[in-house]
Amino acid sequence: MIYPRLGVNIDHVATLRQQRGEFYPEVDRAAEVSLATGADQITIHLREDRRHIQDRDVSAVYEVCHKFNKPLNLEIGCHDEMINIAIAHNPQWICLVPEKREERTTEGGLDVMDPKNYEKVKKTCDRLKEKIPQTKISLFVEADAEVLQRCLTIKADAVEIHTGEYAKDFLQKKDLSFHLKQYRDGSKMIKARGWGYHAGHGLTFESLVPLLEEAEFEEYNVGHWIISESVFIGLGHVVKEMATLIKKYPLKGSP
Ligand code: PXP
Repeated sequence: MIYPRLGVNIDHVATLRQQRGEFYPEVDRAAEVSLATGADQITIHLREDRRHIQDRDVSAVYEVCHKFNKPLNLEIGCHDEMINIAIAHNPQWICLVPEKREERTTEGGLDVMDPKNYEKVKKTCDRLKEKIPQTKISLFVEADAEVLQRCLTIKADAVEIHTGEYAKDFLQKKDLSFHLKQYRDGSKMIKARGWGYHAGHGLTFESLVPLLEEAEFEEYNVGHWIISESVFIGLGHVVKEMATLIKKYPLKGSP
């Protein structure tokens, strides 16, 4: 059986640390605990404003991932500085995200329908593929047919679907059928080209379940909820529970 992968986003361990300017809680320790308790990958977002993850965290987390033989998924915006850092670290995955200074968290996917943005994303992927060809790239986007079609013209390996709106609707007990249909349609289009189909943003233990039942996404990146719940039951327990949940739902077509 093949199951979806769980990427644990530990940005908010750094948020807590930066709040006080102390050395704790340690981000590399969070990576270690997550990988020891069932995470398949560690995700960190090095933002231009360095509000949580710092440059030194990238090497520290990379080392931990290397020790566990698990991938590091580095999220970056398409800025030269970030691209150079990513090239220097050579992570297994890079997820390209839009980044606005004033936003609280990543708001929506990359706007690849805008010609200027499209060129920026395309050029970033070309450069990454030239410099670190073994690194896989995912594009964080909305599950819109036109957007996905456009992504497929870029040199990347996967899309990560922005599940923020779905997650909000789930919490407000709204009808989810529109989102789920979009995700199913997107899956066909993306997988037909052999690309990876990932999901992330705003997900919780409970809002993960309808997506797991659909069995379309091969990877989930979950951060804020995991770190929040850790306050009550501890990071290792939260990761273990989520990893155990995911292992109940094999992927569609899995042998
Ligand atoms: N995936 C991407 C591309 C993101 O930017 C984020 C937030 O940094 C996440 C997943 C995780 O979102 P959340 O913290 O809401 O679980």
